[in-house]
Amino acid sequence: MHAVAEVAATFAVPDNVFAEKVVAVEHFTDRLFRFRITRPASFRFRSGEFVMIGLPNAQKPVFRAYSIASPSWDDEIEFFSIKVANGPLTEHLQKIKPGDTVLMRKKPTGTLVLDALLPGKRLYLLSTGTGVAPFASLVRDPETYEKFEEVVLVQTCRQVDELTYITRLVEDLRDDPLVGDLVEGRLKLFTSTTRQTFPRMGRITDLMTDGRFFEMTGLPRIDPEIDRGMICGSMAMIKDTSAMLEGFGLVEGANNKPATFVVERAFVG
Ligand code: A2P
Repeated sequence: MHAVAEVAATFAVPDNVFAEKVVAVEHFTDRLFRFRITRPASFRFRSGEFVMIGLPNAQKPVFRAYSIASPSWDDEIEFFSIKVANGPLTEHLQKIKPGDTVLMRKKPTGTLVLDALLPGKRLYLLSTGTGVAPFASLVRDPETYEKFEEVVLVQTCRQVDELTYITRLVEDLRDDPLVGDLVEGRLKLFTSTTRQTFPRMGRITDLMTDGRFFEMTGLPRIDPEIDRGMICGSMAMIKDTSAMLEGFGLVEGANNKPATFVVERAFVG
């Protein structure tokens, strides 16, 4: 029996927590990995929301907020995680294997949901690093394509190999039986790096502000009449990207007050 599962047996699982099994783990770099867990039949969430997760390795486990990267129709739950050497959760989480137990609090929440946006034509999903996770959920949800004609998914990372997760996910989507036809010609992925040579380089804030993004993609400048935005990244990224969207005339909204863009912090475990 694996160490984590052995420990699990010694601690009671509280009522507000699900104890689920890891079904798959994939490491992309020494700092990034994804994993999938079983989905409890009673667990409902909206694509783009986050949930608190932890490990059954202490009487009072450390819980951290994780965006759910899988869409709401999926029968498993996927997460995309950073590995932090001395991170109270991720130093252990990065070692999980299929069959291990992951704890998940029962109540999902978050602002990166389609209901928090006013109707529009084009949806911009702007992320850095693991901030792409909630968008990995939304681009796989048919409802996104019912509400928007076009979806532009953006991820900026320091290094090229940090873009692998979303690049492969979008490539695989074309063959997906549920959303393959929907994404055809309507989902655009724009990736860029800032610290390693790549065909597209620069922070998204710089690329959009000076117009290079629009030149490279052929997309028109952001128009508050038809364009909507979601932002997920570090505190500094959120601040600067929000200011940029406000500069284009968009207004920040929330679940109880839909507007033209919404933000969420990318969580670090
Ligand atoms: P940069 O390399 O120029 O700092 P981090 O790992 O620090 O969160 O950064 C992830 C990516 O987000 C990096 O490519 C980084 O660019 C970029 N980034 C960091 N801060 C901002 C910001 N305020 N606005 C836009 N992009 C940012």
